[in-house]
Amino acid sequence: MDHFDYKDGVLHAEDVPLPAIAAAVGTPVYVYSRATLTRHARVFRDALAARLPRLHIAFAVKANPNLAVLRLLASEGYGADVVSGGELERALAAGIPAADVVFSGVGKTRAELARALDVGLGQFNLESEEEGHELADIADSRGLTATCALRVNPDVDAGTHAKISTGKAENKFGVPYDRAAAMYARLAARPGLAMRGLAAHIGSQVTSLAPSRAAFVRMGDLMHGIRGEGHAVTHMDLGGGLGVPYKLGEQLPGPDEYAAMVADVTADWDATIMFEPGRVIVGNSGVLVTEVIRVKPGVSAPFVVVDAAMNDLVRPAMYDAWHDFLAVTPTGERTVANIVGPICESSDTFAMGREIDVVKAGDLAVFRTAGAYGATMANTYNSRPLVPEVMVDGSRWAIVADRIEPSTILAAERVPEWL
Ligand code: LLP
Repeated sequence: MDHFDYKDGVLHAEDVPLPAIAAAVGTPVYVYSRATLTRHARVFRDALAARLPRLHIAFAVKANPNLAVLRLLASEGYGADVVSGGELERALAAGIPAADVVFSGVGKTRAELARALDVGLGQFNLESEEEGHELADIADSRGLTATCALRVNPDVDAGTHAKISTGKAENKFGVPYDRAAAMYARLAARPGLAMRGLAAHIGSQVTSLAPSRAAFVRMGDLMHGIRGEGHAVTHMDLGGGLGVPYKLGEQLPGPDEYAAMVADVTADWDATIMFEPGRVIVGNSGVLVTEVIRVKPGVSAPFVVVDAAMNDLVRPAMYDAWHDFLAVTPTGERTVANIVGPICESSDTFAMGREIDVVKAGDLAVFRTAGAYGATMANTYNSRPLVPEVMVDGSRWAIVADRIEPSTILAAERVPEWL
């Protein structure tokens, strides 16, 4: 459920008509609904809290790192899952206590590990034994102890797009399942490390519960095995990945079914269960508002050329992702068209042969479900501006990220004197 609804024929974010934001800020622009974000954060948290006695939820900052979004989630009791020094600083700037931050990622640098140790990071999710030993050395040299989990690759097919699947043996993430117990023992022997758990994340936009269940069952077996060898395993991080409906009316397992499955699998674990959700919290909390530049006839269907492009929302070009396209003031007429952006390559295509509302030059439209992996993956290809972000709260709204103009980016470039 979200708070993007038509009122008197005009699409609103909560009580704000989208044309009002477009007129003031210009297009393209991401618009987030505070009420939707809050609702999603609570539904996910409450479904798990009702069933799991010890729970920690770390929002996957990569899905939407906007400071206002992080601040809102912090106020809902969310920690953060970060994958870079930059994300760590954002989480801290948003007021998320360092102790509630989990650091994931295969390529944490020494500088990032040291900074995280110094601020009192809650948990390092180690992705290799080498990383663990490096971290132990850094901790030793500072007289500190790093609290860690070992990320394990459970070798389960998440059934999701190949580019966002992470839990199969051939993926770069985590350590091989069969070697994890021995590694855990070796790392636990290092005084600089407090090994406390295991972590897994099998992929993103996972749309059925079966692969997650299979992965969690395997993680439980591993946990029992490691405990059997005398090591403490008090925290089990089950990652993120729960998918969201990208098409209006699509039915997927929601937080309640997910929580029931987790509670069932983990009933005898006696551990703090941790999660790293991203998309399920923010995905349907945002839309990308765009203006139709013109409609150009095509061979089989017309091209609706919009002022948003693959640099603003890369998911269709990168993962063949579907984002619903709705006119902000629909006439009721429908047509079949191709929706494309202005960038000079064919992959700048949002949809081909899609049935959509009839739109004409100057009309506003939205791409739905753009709150996750939208603005954060934007870039300035074709010397386009970096897309701005707005948050709506009832009848008020605020710009939460400025449009970065090409002139600002140009000003950061230099021509060497020898040219
Ligand atoms: N934890 C870890 C270790 C992750 O790698 C990810 C996502 C998450 C949590 C959050 O997953 P979520 O709950 O959002 O599915 N750019 C792609 C998605 C990449 C996901 C990468 N890792 C997209 O636009 O679909």
